[in-house]
Amino acid sequence: MNALSLRGVVKTYGDDTHALGGIDLAVPQGDFFALLGPNGAGKSTAIGIICSLVTKTAGEVEVFGHDIDHEREHAKALIGLVPQEFNFNVFEAVEDILMNVAGYNGIRRAVAKRRTEKYLKRLDLWDKRRTQARNLSGGMKRRLMIARALVHEPRLLILDEPTAGVDIEIRRSMWEFLTELNSEQGTTIILTTHYLEEAEALCRNVAIIDQGAIVEQGAVAELLSRARFETFVLDVRGIPEASSDFAPFTVRSRDDGKLEVDVPQGETLNILFELMGRAGIEITSLRNKSNRLEEFFLKLVHRDEAAAGVAGGAGQ
Ligand SMILES: Nc1ncnc2c1ncn2[C@@H]1O[C@H](COP(=O)(O)OP(=O)(O)OP(=O)(O)O)[C@@H](O)[C@H]1O
Ligand SMILES: [Mg+2]
Repeated sequence: MNALSLRGVVKTYGDDTHALGGIDLAVPQGDFFALLGPNGAGKSTAIGIICSLVTKTAGEVEVFGHDIDHEREHAKALIGLVPQEFNFNVFEAVEDILMNVAGYNGIRRAVAKRRTEKYLKRLDLWDKRRTQARNLSGGMKRRLMIARALVHEPRLLILDEPTAGVDIEIRRSMWEFLTELNSEQGTTIILTTHYLEEAEALCRNVAIIDQGAIVEQGAVAELLSRARFETFVLDVRGIPEASSDFAPFTVRSRDDGKLEVDVPQGETLNILFELMGRAGIEITSLRNKSNRLEEFFLKLVHRDEAAAGVAGGAGQ
């Protein structure tokens, strides 16, 4: 059974903002799934629809086989959501936030207390249980959002950019926690992220969304094996003539005078050096541009502004 399935989901805000143009998505039970895409691609809109927070214009959504239109409450109860923006009451104490959400979900007080302790401990917030949420650091607030989403022990956990603004150390510990949750409790996890390395490190399957359409979907490992090139940035002396042919390499000139070269898998750089030498170009330095999944992603979304944003974001 699929944990989640979307068929022909369309969302138009107002008359003319076409956020989703009819997307299909299938996430198997137990999966660790990434929804990747540049800013404004439609990720949060899709998540809002799945969680019944945003009204869809058309299409069908099922959560573990339960249609969100016909069995809304049942479907909602199966989902834990960590939204992109903090949305807890900042004047409440950490443990009260969890207890109140448990109460809202109809969980008995004794059970709620046990789970509050369990998740606050696992997310390293137990010492802060009596602290008002506004006095937590950014990384602690993110972890509080995760703990809150887990109190009703959902079968599907959806995280909208859970590691935005979180430092490397806390990001790693969140990765560890999510991996454990997925493998030990069997919780299906879907996350959106701008950090491609995050999808690569954590997720089994991925869908890439751009301008409201799914442009690619499949196993991360399989997508990587299809990303059959690596991109290098070269400092050079000399400028290639417009007519120069460097096949099988693809060479692009950049505004800063450097060259970008796609090197297909199996080709050696020696041949590139030789071709460049014959064209009168001397390579003075060479570096790897970024990881393969990132390159592949940028090729798919074909947008310069996305290229700048994603490449910058991944390096933070
Ligand atoms: N409440 C809203 N009213 C009108 N337009 C909206 C609303 N929410 C989102 N949009 C528009 O829908 C499109 C998709 O936005 P969405 O927030 O789903 O993107 P996203 O992929 O989550 O982006 P980001 O990575 O920046 O969070 C954008 O063009 C956005 O401006
Ligand atoms: Mg978003």
